[in-house]
Amino acid sequence: MTVFVTGGAGFIGSNYIFYHLAKHPEDRVVCLDKLTYAGNLSTLAPIMNDPRFRFCKVDICDREAIYGLFEEEKPDAVINFAAESHVDRSIENPSIFLETNIIGTSVLMDACRKYGGVRYHQVSTDEVYGDLPLDRPDLFFTEQTPIHTSSPYSSSKAGADLLVMAYCRTYGLPVTISRCSNNYGPYHFPEKLIPLMIINCLHDKPLPVYGRGLNIRDWLYVEDHCKAVDLIVRGGRIGEVYNVGGHNEMRNIDIVRLIVRALGKSEELITYVADRKGHDLRYAIDPTKIHEELGWLPETKFEDGIQKTIRWYLDHPAWWEEIISGEYQNYYRDMYQQRLEDSAAANEVKR
Ligand code: NAD
Ligand code: DAU
Repeated sequence: MTVFVTGGAGFIGSNYIFYHLAKHPEDRVVCLDKLTYAGNLSTLAPIMNDPRFRFCKVDICDREAIYGLFEEEKPDAVINFAAESHVDRSIENPSIFLETNIIGTSVLMDACRKYGGVRYHQVSTDEVYGDLPLDRPDLFFTEQTPIHTSSPYSSSKAGADLLVMAYCRTYGLPVTISRCSNNYGPYHFPEKLIPLMIINCLHDKPLPVYGRGLNIRDWLYVEDHCKAVDLIVRGGRIGEVYNVGGHNEMRNIDIVRLIVRALGKSEELITYVADRKGHDLRYAIDPTKIHEELGWLPETKFEDGIQKTIRWYLDHPAWWEEIISGEYQNYYRDMYQQRLEDSAAANEVKR
C-alpha cells in the first residue's frame, strides 16, 4: 500500500512516519510537506535514503501540484497531519490557519475524489469541542459533544472536520476523523508548552506560565497517538469520528514544576504572565469508542513518557538549537517580551 502522509516533517507526522515504516515494512510512505517554520527536514534525515520513503516539498493548498503527485504515486490512503497547529499564532494571524487547515483539506479530498479508491483520514483535535469547566471533573468530551470552538485555530480545525463529513455524505468519500488530546514526545516544536519549558529551564530563562497555570490539558505520548491513527486507518468505520486520549489530565503549573524538578532547577524561574486570549480551561477525552471498537489503549504512562521526553531534549540539542537560533527568536520576542516585562513590573509594585 502507498500512503500519503501530509505534514510529515512536523512533530506528530514525523513520529507517525517512523512508526508506520517500522510497523508496516511492506508499505511505501510519501511525505508531503510545505516545510513551514514548523517543518524540519533534519527530523527525517534517518529515512531519506530508505527506498520505501519519498519526501515531496509541497503545499497542500497547491491543487496542481497535489493532483500531479496523486497521478504519479496513486496512493491508497491519505493521512492529513498538515496544519498550522499553534493556538497563540492563530490569535495573532488567523488567515493562514484558514488557508492550510480548511482549503488544504478540501484540495486533498478533491484529489481523493478525482483519482478514486483513496481512503482519507483527517487528524483533528479535541479543541473542536471547546473546553470543559474546571469544577466539573465528571465531564468528558465524547464523539457526541457538540462542536464549540474558542480560537481561530480550533475553528479552522472544526471547519475542516465539517468538510470531511460533508465529502463523505455528498460524494461517498471513505473518510475517518481522529480527535486527539495534547501530544508530547520527541520532535515537539519548541513553541509548545513542554519543549518550551524544558529548553528555557536548560538556559535558566524565565518560564512563562499563562494566567495562574490552572488550565488543564489531557496529555498523551505521541507514539500512542500514532498507534491510534494507524488502527483507525486500517479498521475504523467509514464516516466515523474517534476520540483519542489517555485520561491523563494535568494542570499546566504541575507540568512546569515537574520539569523544573527533573532538571534540578529553581521554581523561581516560574513567571506568571498575561493569559492567552480566550484560553480554554480544561480538555478531557473519553476514549471509550476507540477502545471498544479497535482495542486501542495508551501504553506509555505519563511519568515514564515525560522523563523519556526530557531525556530526548537533553540528548538532541543540535535538533532544537538549530530551530531556536533563527526566526524563532523574533517569534519569542514578539510573544513573550512584553508579557515578561509586565510581569516583572507588577512584581516590583507588589514589593
Ligand atoms: P506541527 O506544527 O508540529 O507540524 C505541522 C506540519 O505541517 C509541519 O511540518 C509543516 O511544515 C506542515 N505544513 C503546514 N502547512 C502546510 C501546508 N500548507 N502544506 C503542507 N504542509 C504543511 O503540528 P503537530 O503538532 O505535529 O500537529 C499535526 C496535526 O495533529 C495537526 O493537524 C494538529 O491539528 C493535530 N493535533 C495536534 C496535537 C498536538 O498536541 N500537537 C493534538 C491533536 C491534534
Ligand atoms: O489539545 C490538542 C491541541 O494541543 C492541539 O490541537 C494543538 O495543535 C496543540 O498545539 C495543543 O494546543 P494547546 O494550546 O493546548 O498547547 P500549548 O502547548 O500551546 O499550550 C498548552 C497549555 O500551556 C495551554 O493551556 C497554554 C499553556 N501555555 C503554553 C505556552 C506555550 C503556557 O502557560 N505558557 C506557554 O508559554
